[in-house]
Amino acid sequence: MEKKTFYITTPIYYPSGNAHIGHSYCTVASDAIARYRRMQGCDVMFLTGTDEHGLKIEQKAEAEGVTPKQYVDKIVANFQKLWKLLNISNDRFIRTTDDYHVKAVQKIFRELYDRGDIYKGKYDGWYCTPCESFWTETQLKDGKCPDCGREVKWAEEEAYFFRLSKYADRILKLYEEHPEFIQPESRKNEMIAFIKQGLQDLCVSRTSFTWGIPVDFDPKHVVYVWVDALTNYITAMGYGSGDDSDYKKYWPADVHFVGKEIVRFHTIIWPAMLMALDLPLPKQVYGHGWLLFGDGTKMSKSKGNVVDPNILCERYGVDAIRYFLLREIPFGADGVFTNEALIARINSDLANDLGNLVSRTTAMVQKYFGGQIPAERESEPVDDELIAMASALREKCDKAIEGYQFSAALTEIWKLVARSNKYIDETMPWALGKDETKRARLAAVMYNLCESLRIISILIAPFMPETSPRIQKQLGLSGDAATYESAAVWGATPAGTVVEKGETLFPRIDVDKEIEALNALIPNPMEQKAEEKKEIPGLAQIGIDDFAKVELRAAKVVACEPIKKAKKLLKLTLDDGAGERTVASGIAKWYKPEDLIGRTVVLVANLKPATLCGVESQGMILAADAGENDVRVIFLEGVPAGSSIH
Ligand code: MSP
Repeated sequence: MEKKTFYITTPIYYPSGNAHIGHSYCTVASDAIARYRRMQGCDVMFLTGTDEHGLKIEQKAEAEGVTPKQYVDKIVANFQKLWKLLNISNDRFIRTTDDYHVKAVQKIFRELYDRGDIYKGKYDGWYCTPCESFWTETQLKDGKCPDCGREVKWAEEEAYFFRLSKYADRILKLYEEHPEFIQPESRKNEMIAFIKQGLQDLCVSRTSFTWGIPVDFDPKHVVYVWVDALTNYITAMGYGSGDDSDYKKYWPADVHFVGKEIVRFHTIIWPAMLMALDLPLPKQVYGHGWLLFGDGTKMSKSKGNVVDPNILCERYGVDAIRYFLLREIPFGADGVFTNEALIARINSDLANDLGNLVSRTTAMVQKYFGGQIPAERESEPVDDELIAMASALREKCDKAIEGYQFSAALTEIWKLVARSNKYIDETMPWALGKDETKRARLAAVMYNLCESLRIISILIAPFMPETSPRIQKQLGLSGDAATYESAAVWGATPAGTVVEKGETLFPRIDVDKEIEALNALIPNPMEQKAEEKKEIPGLAQIGIDDFAKVELRAAKVVACEPIKKAKKLLKLTLDDGAGERTVASGIAKWYKPEDLIGRTVVLVANLKPATLCGVESQGMILAADAGENDVRVIFLEGVPAGSSIH
């Protein structure tokens, strides 16, 4: 019989900065679904990729003195490396700079033009550069971009337009006939309200920059980046470029996972484009929530407040991070990311609950039976609840996953973990082990624990792909006893299975020490700047006016002390000629307070204050990268505090 296909996608990410934990969130969630569906026997297509065109990237590349392609190549490699580290099992990775995609987009654009759904006109409106969106006066929020809140500027250009307005009624009908199309439900109401305000035709070409896919019949225009990006879901399957057998096999997608801020593009523009092309529509768009920081702001590259998943994986292991992302925040809702919450989860759910259950069970099977549980086993009524719970678990997980409720699925699995730990307390194997007449009972208790763990180990595999085989190895499981089918069958561990005690799955973390270490790892903007500078192959030039904006002044260090929460930082009190100010500087590795007190340094006096690890830093002092891992502060001799430097 042919396998049922299942096609899932992530958004294709902008490679304007390195991949961060927010991108990882959606990618890990999609991966868990792809793995779950494969485990259930589906023929899965899991697509992710990068959205590489647009003005923002062009500007970033220019600032670094490299070509846009050179710029994105480096960052795309960073994304791909992170996906590998996070065990992302994507079947395909699309880059919008891939040749086949470029050609297919040109073909689609032309086709829409030929069908009359794209026409040439003139555009004027308020333009938000970072969002690459035009807005009308009434759409602005306090005169700023309604999506990101940034400044907009008036722009006019000859442009191509897509007849989006023509599709408003059909899109509303789509929502009505397919209530499952937009999930969660609340996002649908937002979209209905948006459409009912009145849909304008969409400007789908730009002439103000060149880093995009040229309209092949009018090459001074490049295709609007969202039209370029949205089509990736079909071009990656071969639509518009020769062999379209995968397109025929997998399209329409079963679900597009996207962040809530881009639901509008996926549930209005994308279906309208597909309607205009007479193509089938995706079955569902799921708009997940955001990972927020403790202060409620969205984690984002442009705000510079990103948590580096590489560091987290290195310290706690990939599965701990995957578990946290999927368990902590109900999919669909926003959630706060804090290091404290992460460590608390690792300690309680992973080290205490699951880790302990595995180590206690395997150690006891070793101790009492040399690793092999005898066939002669004696049941008792206390076993029933555990057995019933374990036998019903797969169905519960399936149901939760059907609605993309990762947290609910993991909560169900952890109920069984907790029940199994409680079962150990109830059955007291250490007491049974002292009584020779209770060997059959002890064998049953051990077998039940191993069975329960076997089912747990199978069902956690999509979420924690490294931990699952590690548990199965300790339980001596393979083949039929480790399949999805067997997760619904109690008693599938075969006779003669050898259990061995393995290494600790999740070591407990000392919370206070770890938080201190993590805080010290939060990137210091000064150091980041130094690093970026090292990587610039060509120097972007600035005019004398730009340089004149920087107020450099001699400042005397009157006091200096380490910052408790951040090992890399020193807190300096500087006399800048007009008064005293505090500056936090990432030089603790190279200087002790006594090396600095009494000396005169170069201060950037008009830098906006920033809070670093709880210290308000009112400026920055200059230092040279004197070699790899050697930073030298620039000292001045015989210059009075407050002297201007130019
Ligand atoms: N390139 C567009 C998407 C085009 S899809 C045809 C884009 N890229 S993006 O780099 O900004 O990534 C957006 C996606 O990354 C979000 O929709 C979301 O899935 C994920 N996230 C980025 N930051 C996030 C958080 N702070 N929290 C959760 N998800 C986040 O938009």
